[in-house]
Amino acid sequence: MSSTLSIRAVPSGPPPASIRRRQYGDPCTMVLFGATGDLARKKLFLSVFDLEKKRLLHKNFFLLGVDRQPLTDGAFRDLVREALYQSSDRKFIDEDVWHNLRGRVFYAPADLTQPEGYGAIVERLAAIERDVGEAEANRLFYFAVPPFLFEPIVRNLPASGLAPRLDDPTTRPWRRLVVEKPFGHDLKTALALNALVLETFAEHQVYRIDHYLGKETVQNMLVFRSGNAIFEPLWNRQHISHVQITAAEEVGVEGRGQYYERAGVVRDMFQNHLLQLLALTAMELPTTLSPNDVRDEKVKVLRAIRPLVAGERVSAVRAQYAPGVVRGKAVPGYRDEPHVAPDSTTPTYAALRVLIDNGRWRGVPFYLRSGKRMAKRLTEIAVTFHVPPYLMEGVVGLAPGRQGVAPNVLIFRIQPDEGITLRFEAKVPGTALALTEGSEATSVDMDFTYDDAFGVHLPPAYETLLLDVMLGDATLFTRSDEVSFGWHVTDPLLDHWESHPPERVETYAAGTWGPASADALLQQDGFRWREP
Ligand code: BG6
Repeated sequence: MSSTLSIRAVPSGPPPASIRRRQYGDPCTMVLFGATGDLARKKLFLSVFDLEKKRLLHKNFFLLGVDRQPLTDGAFRDLVREALYQSSDRKFIDEDVWHNLRGRVFYAPADLTQPEGYGAIVERLAAIERDVGEAEANRLFYFAVPPFLFEPIVRNLPASGLAPRLDDPTTRPWRRLVVEKPFGHDLKTALALNALVLETFAEHQVYRIDHYLGKETVQNMLVFRSGNAIFEPLWNRQHISHVQITAAEEVGVEGRGQYYERAGVVRDMFQNHLLQLLALTAMELPTTLSPNDVRDEKVKVLRAIRPLVAGERVSAVRAQYAPGVVRGKAVPGYRDEPHVAPDSTTPTYAALRVLIDNGRWRGVPFYLRSGKRMAKRLTEIAVTFHVPPYLMEGVVGLAPGRQGVAPNVLIFRIQPDEGITLRFEAKVPGTALALTEGSEATSVDMDFTYDDAFGVHLPPAYETLLLDVMLGDATLFTRSDEVSFGWHVTDPLLDHWESHPPERVETYAAGTWGPASADALLQQDGFRWREP
């Protein structure tokens, strides 16, 4: 049981850092491959729009949408506007801002599998860049396309003259590639893709996006750890008993059955997002916040993860959602979703017990779980400390129903309701302190929310990351070796699961916190999942 102390954390000096805006991006044309697809409509157009609204786009920023459909500039602009209204609250769409942006939005139809398809893009770019100074004619190529298109695009960009390899990162105009996940289907394909990309482009030109790294609260992890003397000394096995990382979604596969059947939850969420959250929590603090120093430390953590499969012992469970009720509405099970096989064994939920074999973390389990159609949309990292040696039993009695003094828990709320909670023990007021009088201790929460402290909406991850690409800051993007070591962690598990299909797929009702086996995974270590 816990109650909430209303302690508000507010910035101590004006003005709040979040309001002192960032530098605006370099002039550039964003060539968006997959411009009529899901990601573009749901996230990317809105991010571009919000950057314009905050005046973070250069006046010579242009958007050139590319896809198969034969659309005119006008039809594409209508599509973008409609998507803006669909992906955001009406009140946030300012028509004056749209008006300023509209004339800088263009479209070129192209078959990206064919070399001839790139001719139309070359022509449109030449026209767009005609009045832009040569050094300002930068190009950002965004791959919001299915994986089968990665290779033809990577091959054709230099061949068509759209983007050559630039070994010197200071060369202007720049050419940068933003590559969406999935980056490969497994280690082998990821290595092949990396090899192809790096044979054609220099690493500094490639931005592998993991949008979780763009979330404000995820970035805050490094600042929190390095900037707070009361926590960093405790950040190790002597003080921390275990860590739970949860990424729960209310939504199901949302019409992406075809992709999801092949991917499953481990490729979709663990190989990238959850391992990144783990790496940021567990890494040594880097010497500087330069992209390579940060990424070097993350890679060391990924390399130190103990294999998830050792002989027949597997430190992971999987399950699939069955019909259930989410927010009072009956929803179908995974097997009833469009483009999903009626006997599919694809997991939509997994929980992993991860051990990191280094001096800081040896013996501290990190439990990772993620699933679709769970009780609530929630992403958090909960760091649980050891129970103090003086249990205070005998000195302070326990509130009714309590098994013992509860450990301190530090919870990083990544979404929604972004903030940090510290749970600690407090004496219940009014009860006596004396042993004989049976005084009581209970858990209370001290809360920091971004909303309260800074009073601003946090920028969506894609907005932050797009601006970073325009500014040439790769800190929040994954380097090729990070991607490979991510696959090193998940590949043996995926191989094991795929070669041992379950006789009966374990299920969990939609709208719940997951299957019974996930509870057992923690119970064997004497822990329980948090039920937020
Ligand atoms: C994507 C996955 O990378 O992340 C989706 O492909 C998932 O399946 C999404 O829904 C979750 O992102 P967020 O930001 O809503 O937590």
